[in-house]
Amino acid sequence: MQHDYRPHLPRFLANAIDRLAAEDPELFGILEAEYHRQANVLTMVASSSITDPSALACEAMPTMNVTAEGYPGARFHAGCRYIDQIENLAIERAKRAFGARFANVQPMTATSANEVCMFSVLNAGETLLGMDLDSGGHLTHGSKASISGQVFKAYGYGLTKDERIDYDQAEALAREHRPKLIICGTTAYSRQIDWARFRSIADEVDAYLLADITHIAGLVVAGLHPNPIDHAHFTTTCTHKQLYSGRGGLIMIGKDFDQVGPDGKRTLEQVIQKKVFPFFQGAPNQSSIAAKARGLAYVATPEFNAVARRVVDLSQALAQAFMDKGYRVITGGTDNHIVVVDVMSKGISGVNAEKALEDCGLVVNKNRIPYDQKPPSITSGIRLGTNGLAIRRMEPADMVECVDLIHEVLTSIEQVSDKTYKLAPQLQARVEESVRQMCQRRPISTYPAPVTAYKAA
Ligand SMILES: Cc1ncc(COP(=O)(O)O)c(C=O)c1O
Repeated sequence: MQHDYRPHLPRFLANAIDRLAAEDPELFGILEAEYHRQANVLTMVASSSITDPSALACEAMPTMNVTAEGYPGARFHAGCRYIDQIENLAIERAKRAFGARFANVQPMTATSANEVCMFSVLNAGETLLGMDLDSGGHLTHGSKASISGQVFKAYGYGLTKDERIDYDQAEALAREHRPKLIICGTTAYSRQIDWARFRSIADEVDAYLLADITHIAGLVVAGLHPNPIDHAHFTTTCTHKQLYSGRGGLIMIGKDFDQVGPDGKRTLEQVIQKKVFPFFQGAPNQSSIAAKARGLAYVATPEFNAVARRVVDLSQALAQAFMDKGYRVITGGTDNHIVVVDVMSKGISGVNAEKALEDCGLVVNKNRIPYDQKPPSITSGIRLGTNGLAIRRMEPADMVECVDLIHEVLTSIEQVSDKTYKLAPQLQARVEESVRQMCQRRPISTYPAPVTAYKAA
């Protein structure tokens, strides 16, 4: 729909920034510092990304002012004409990007998206089967630290000796415990996932299947990872990692959208709608929904396919560069954006590696490795990802330079204890400067092509 308004938003946003700087220099100073930090460090936290400024602008829009409980066309408040258009756009773009039959774009996080799905098919005390946290599963897949492991009886499958998902174990556990929900999808696993195998396990025990593609959603859209949408009953993702969108969650259903749900009355689509609102949430954040719409249009462009390809090329180059330096890379490589490295084999704890690398502008996160002997606050590994590096349009050769710098830091750490270390200030300053130069050479870029060609189906 065309509007003939003269654009006021550019001035609105510029004025807002000017006022923030003038009236609250303390807060503005911190925001500026964060902007410069991001520009001058290499963010390789696998669960991070770099959202395009045009999507960030959506987050700052006055759409935030509208309280809009309910769904497009069925709100509990007036004043939702444009809000409805935005939400419908986001829904259509999500369905189009993933080939889904149903999408709910309101969840505030992927965590709440997962919880919605759990509470849609499970009652408290009933059984779910997810991947162990230590093997690469997420907290929301049945960990005792999360509601998923406290409200439900959760069992976990793990990895085989060669560090691949142990489908046979998942099948055996499913047969033994008859879960009503099986969760697949991972947070620290670098290989492809066999959705069809999980669906056949779920069907055998009459369980629902939830595929959480938070980490690989962009690769799925680009066709670089198989799409679970018609294998799983529910597919969830966050929108702020590989979809380069606004921060939030997304729930989708493929061919099973009109299957009757557990109460024998409502369809799965209807069950999810009711569980998002009013069961879990009130009014959604419509600015985030606008930002999601923007990112979901971007990932549907042919240009995004090249970004996704670069994400994988870079992580494979990163994994190879680590192995060339003698590090043990979990699973011996990667098919996605994630590289998990055993640093304890070099005598350094994961937490010390994380902190020392951050001191030098190389931002990664500590991560447990399969059969880790160290607790989550220490760990034996680090996890890296390439979503942010691809947006800097780095090349595989740059990954060798990254690993050279990482190696220089890790081999210079004097580990005092699992949680304390010493690092020579001169070395820190030198590496930090090399990273800064690399960041200047490869600045954070924007979407590689204007996302104006996109037309809603
Ligand atoms: C597989 C998986 N699911 C869910 C989440 C939670 O995402 P959010 O921070 O949006 O709640 C994460 C976070 O990284 C994740 O890796």
